[in-house]
Amino acid sequence: MRTEIGTDLLLAADLLRRGDLVAIPTETVYGLAANAYDGSAVLKIFEAKQRPAFDPLIVHVHGKGQLGEVAAALPPGAEVLMDRFWPGPLTLVMPKGGRVPDLVTSGLDTVAVRMPAHPVALALLRSLEFPLAAPSANPFGYVSPTTARHVADQLGGKVPYILDGGACTVGVESTIIGWEADQDAWVLYRPGGTPVEAVETVIGQVAPARKRVLPAAPGTMESHYAPRKSVHIGDVAALMREHAGKRIGVIGFRTGHGAEFGEVLSPGGELPEAARNLFAAMRRLDAGEAEVILAEVFPNQGLGAAINDRLRRAAAKRT
Ligand code: TXA
Ligand code: MG
Repeated sequence: MRTEIGTDLLLAADLLRRGDLVAIPTETVYGLAANAYDGSAVLKIFEAKQRPAFDPLIVHVHGKGQLGEVAAALPPGAEVLMDRFWPGPLTLVMPKGGRVPDLVTSGLDTVAVRMPAHPVALALLRSLEFPLAAPSANPFGYVSPTTARHVADQLGGKVPYILDGGACTVGVESTIIGWEADQDAWVLYRPGGTPVEAVETVIGQVAPARKRVLPAAPGTMESHYAPRKSVHIGDVAALMREHAGKRIGVIGFRTGHGAEFGEVLSPGGELPEAARNLFAAMRRLDAGEAEVILAEVFPNQGLGAAINDRLRRAAAKRT
């Protein structure tokens, strides 16, 4: 299959209507999209990504008005959360509606929904008669793409069209929370682009996810977001001594720690800027000549929680 990169919204919409895949830009990361109501289109997502069928997808909508067919009910506080944080990087897990095929939700009776803040994604969604199921547009287990080029590098030949909307401005995936009736609480499944502190100012305390047995609670699988090279997080100076003699790559917040391959995510120490640069830095180090990747622990607040989560999962791949 030939993969084309472009900005043709009509072509993208046409392909999606025919049951084909299109990679789409969002403010967080690029997604690999299909008609969320078409099971055979959605199946192509799992095939292209080599994603296991037990890992459910996020349904992307252009507004609350589209929830009627997607969700069976709105959990308490959902409406307020949507008013405050949509469009934006907050995914809400709610009871699944009748039109969503089981494949999208991996057989769960809940569905994850979000309204992306990217103008191109929104224009596309508004032009369609159906919402879009889309996970991140990377092979399963690898770092998420934040440019059209990243998508082409890895899924070239597996998706006919990549809609180019420039570099993602948030740079880490959406925060995912779900209402758990038995706990009478919202639970954090994945820290992401919306700081959980901001969510808590609206609905009160969000509970930490409970450890579950297999199939792993979606998004909690350890070795996710992982480069091929080994990643170690902690005190970078100490780690550099430990790995002396190797060609070292470093992911640093304000400094590259004098490493041969030092990636500085935000010279001014801004967490949103660091999040925006994280995945591209991981990709560069993975593709370059460094033999090992060392990373700082970031301040664990705001977007720092999402950065630490992604680095921790990258490090979990090979220890
Ligand atoms: O920012 C994002 O969320 C991006 C863009 C493309 O929207 N999407 C994304 O999808 O990161 P991805 O590859 O992480 O896959 C969706 C994740 C699953 O791995 C799972 O963690 C969670 O969404 N999820 C989906 N349905 C769920 C459900 N019913 N209950 C709990 N978690 C669910
Ligand atoms: Mg993903």
